[in-house]
Amino acid sequence: MNDNPIGVFDSGLGGLSVWRELRRALPHESLIYYGDGKNCPYGSQPRERIIEYTVAATRWLMSQGAKLIVVACNTATAAAIRTLRAKYTLPIVGMEPAVKPAALTTHSGVVGILATEGSLHGELFHHTAAQYASHVQILSAVGEGFVELVETNRENTSEALETVRKVVEPLIEAGADRLVLGCTHYPFLAPAIRQVIGCREVELIDPAPAICRRVAQLLAEHGLEATPDHQADYGFHTLAGEEYLQRLKNKAELALQSVAE
Ligand code: DGL
Repeated sequence: MNDNPIGVFDSGLGGLSVWRELRRALPHESLIYYGDGKNCPYGSQPRERIIEYTVAATRWLMSQGAKLIVVACNTATAAAIRTLRAKYTLPIVGMEPAVKPAALTTHSGVVGILATEGSLHGELFHHTAAQYASHVQILSAVGEGFVELVETNRENTSEALETVRKVVEPLIEAGADRLVLGCTHYPFLAPAIRQVIGCREVELIDPAPAICRRVAQLLAEHGLEATPDHQADYGFHTLAGEEYLQRLKNKAELALQSVAE
């Protein structure tokens, strides 16, 4: 048993879509969230730089006693998960676009993957796609402008709807009946994406619940679960200053409400 926090890391606010699921699924686990903010977006930055940011975040989370790290960022996972696992011995859970469940459940045989440039160019994505999705057609698209909308709390605006429509409509028109949210910022745009989908039978796939199951499994395997009566607490950290920290906390509150709905 171990009451230390789980460290959760993202380039900014997006990882809160994983944080809220962790909080709901593992209510006795303390969580400490590191949202870089200063260097966001990571999406099209060079791999080496993303590795530096991710190592710095991991070190900071470890300095706060993190017992397990969730890299709640597909882009950082694609760039840095191998480096992290080679450097540190604590359990580390990464994210990658959920190609497998989409490929296994599609009826049309066409799957849309929404992610950042960094994730779509990553070795991890290509490996998973080749392993699980060789029998389906994969259409990938970068959510151009999506991260910026979420970072500035504009996801419920008409601008967001138009930005989403531009990217999502061509995928649906090409026959995709599964859309994978392959960036942790994108679940915040799920209402806009659903509006674009309308009454067509297209399912959104968010990997956060699967990540929570993996975290629970690793905690159990390593004897790291919190004691059953542990009162969880929730810390936040950013490199982007006080105003951003407040934005992070407000977004976390909002994220929790949308789970409750
Ligand atoms: N939230 C991140 C992801 O899951 C990256 C967003 C960004 O910084 O570009 O890929």
